[in-house]
Amino acid sequence: MEFPSVQIVVAGNIIQARAGETIVHALWAAGLARHVQTGCIGGVCGACTVSVRFKDGRKGGTDLACMRPVEDGMEVFPFAVDPVPSAPPANEPTVEKLRAVYPTLDRCTKCGGCTVACPMSIPVMDSVLRMQRGEFEAAAEDFTTCIHCGLCRAVCEDKVKPHNMGIWVRRSLGMSQDYPALDQRLVSSGDGRAESEWEYLLTGDEAERLRRAKSFREKGTLS
Ligand code: SF4
Ligand code: SF4
Ligand code: FES
Repeated sequence: MEFPSVQIVVAGNIIQARAGETIVHALWAAGLARHVQTGCIGGVCGACTVSVRFKDGRKGGTDLACMRPVEDGMEVFPFAVDPVPSAPPANEPTVEKLRAVYPTLDRCTKCGGCTVACPMSIPVMDSVLRMQRGEFEAAAEDFTTCIHCGLCRAVCEDKVKPHNMGIWVRRSLGMSQDYPALDQRLVSSGDGRAESEWEYLLTGDEAERLRRAKSFREKGTLS
């Protein structure tokens, strides 16, 4: 089947692409993969974040190049965001504990830029305000679909670091909860079974470990 050809511009490079393919695939086919970072190629990791402008001048906002199909006349602007180290989570999180690791919490000027920038439609600014009020369960829920692209941090003139705080809240709530089923599993591994299984699975070179993993999955026991 013949796909119509469209022309797009990525970081100033004019590329002929096939209608319907993604920006990332068009770049790969043109031998220009270096212009957009990639990770999962499945819309999960946020590494391929770009901003887009359409032929008629309409702004497409931020998007994921591995998910966005090309359109004729589309302009693509790579948007690499430098990572920052994450802060260790805290047991029983409070606003004071959050503020201690992210003093930026109270800097928000409610400009809304982070919400507009988020390619996952997370209400980022509202969530920052929820975190200021200590509504951590709701804030954690907001960031469930965060792909860590870092755009909310990059666009924030006040350096609030919204998604870093959101992830801190999620991790802190997670480590503060009880998991009876997991505790039971840990207790039952006191007989050394889990240790034996790990030792079995991690022994040998790559091919041997693969063979052992397949065997273990099929039989459910050590062979
Ligand atoms: S971009 Fe920064 S200052 Fe603006 S609403 Fe978001 S967190 Fe607040
Ligand atoms: S909350 Fe921030 S880091 Fe998470 S997906 Fe939205 S813009 Fe990206
Ligand atoms: S490469 Fe991971 S979201 Fe696009």
